[in-house]
Amino acid sequence: MKISIVGSGYVGITTGVGFAELGNDVTFIDVDENKIKAINSAKPPIFEKGLEELMNKNRDKYKATNNYESILDTDITFICVGTPSKDDGSIDLSFVESAAREIGKMLKRKDGFHTVVVKSTVVPGTTEEVVKPLIEKESGKRAFEDFGLAMNPEFLREGSAVDDFFNPDRIVIGVKDDKTREVLEMLYSPFNCPKLVTDIKTAEMIKYASNAFLATKISFANEIGNICKKLGIDAYEVFKGVGLDHRINPAFFRAGIGFGGSCFPKDVKALIAKARDVGEEPKLLKAVMDVNEGQPMRLIELLKKHIPNLRGKKVGVLGLAFKPDTDDIRESRAIPIVEELLKEQAEILAYDPKAMDNFKQLFPQIRYAETPNEVLNADAVLIVTEWKEFEQLDYKGKIVIDGRRVEKAREAAIYEGVCW
Ligand code: UDX
Repeated sequence: MKISIVGSGYVGITTGVGFAELGNDVTFIDVDENKIKAINSAKPPIFEKGLEELMNKNRDKYKATNNYESILDTDITFICVGTPSKDDGSIDLSFVESAAREIGKMLKRKDGFHTVVVKSTVVPGTTEEVVKPLIEKESGKRAFEDFGLAMNPEFLREGSAVDDFFNPDRIVIGVKDDKTREVLEMLYSPFNCPKLVTDIKTAEMIKYASNAFLATKISFANEIGNICKKLGIDAYEVFKGVGLDHRINPAFFRAGIGFGGSCFPKDVKALIAKARDVGEEPKLLKAVMDVNEGQPMRLIELLKKHIPNLRGKKVGVLGLAFKPDTDDIRESRAIPIVEELLKEQAEILAYDPKAMDNFKQLFPQIRYAETPNEVLNADAVLIVTEWKEFEQLDYKGKIVIDGRRVEKAREAAIYEGVCW
């Protein structure tokens, strides 16, 4: 099939290159000239494991442009633009809206059936109440008759997005008309996983409910973990036992300093805002966010238990990315931690294998180390992201406060885990 992808962030680029590998022709449309240049020279615009190899392998099956006219040469367009949070936590749909308008203008000039698929995470109702009227207005055509419209959420984790694309647990296809359903079923025919066909707003909600549940699992593990810490119990042992119940499952119980990233915080907040919009006060979701916001400060409290006055003290920070295997620092727990250390007037020395350049833009005033070993020379070390290489360091004789459970760090002279 001929596919156009609007927005080449980690979802757009991974999805597009994945479809190219499956034999489709893909055109990326983006406003960012740097991204376009990078993609056209087979360089991933973001760091994502396995992506560069796949881009090199499929070099002749994709291209990038800033010109929406290339939609005219394709059969199906995916909207993969960002949906950030507004200040009040609700979803900012401006990128989705402008993509819908531009697509609509092109559909006005296009003969034949074209399918538009929303892959961006959007609150329930958005595809039919926002995207559909905009495309219809600009194109003068009717959705579900003259053009197809669907919602097909992504479940890609950063860092393993390529692998997740090819090995999904499930594919959710939210549709209204048969023709659109057939197009998407054909596109996804190479996949053997369960495929769930729902109506459009159910598909939108499946994405939010999935992310909200995973975030809830983490905050639950952290709340139990905080109690465990006070009682001298290892939360990891506890959740090993809990996860063995087949109704529960062991994944996503890693207690620590909480979740960050481009999805969980933003999506839980957007769902809270949407719930309030329709007159529901979501007690559980609010608690999930509250627990999460409190976790990073526990790391600092533990540090202050050993060094009460941080002023002028050298504090090492191992890990700045919101999780390992990515250079992404969005909502990283390192941000509130470094802010608090700065307030306490500590001298910070930070290291991350991939995310230092991004972090420097936010915090140019702190010092960055060339190697993780340099960081170990500080008065105390905080482990903020569980990069594999931190399992190789020599922590003997150090003070280490661990927010992510790096086993090797237990050899430190003083070792404290947030929830263990
Ligand atoms: C998430 C979802 O997993 C994915 O399905 C969705 O499409 C996008 O959002 P991602 O943000 O890439 O993916 O990262 P994920 O691996 O889910 O981790 C999110 C955050 O939770 C990280 O900060 C991680 O450190 C934290 N986390 C995860 C925990 O604190 N404990 C856990 O047990 C798991």
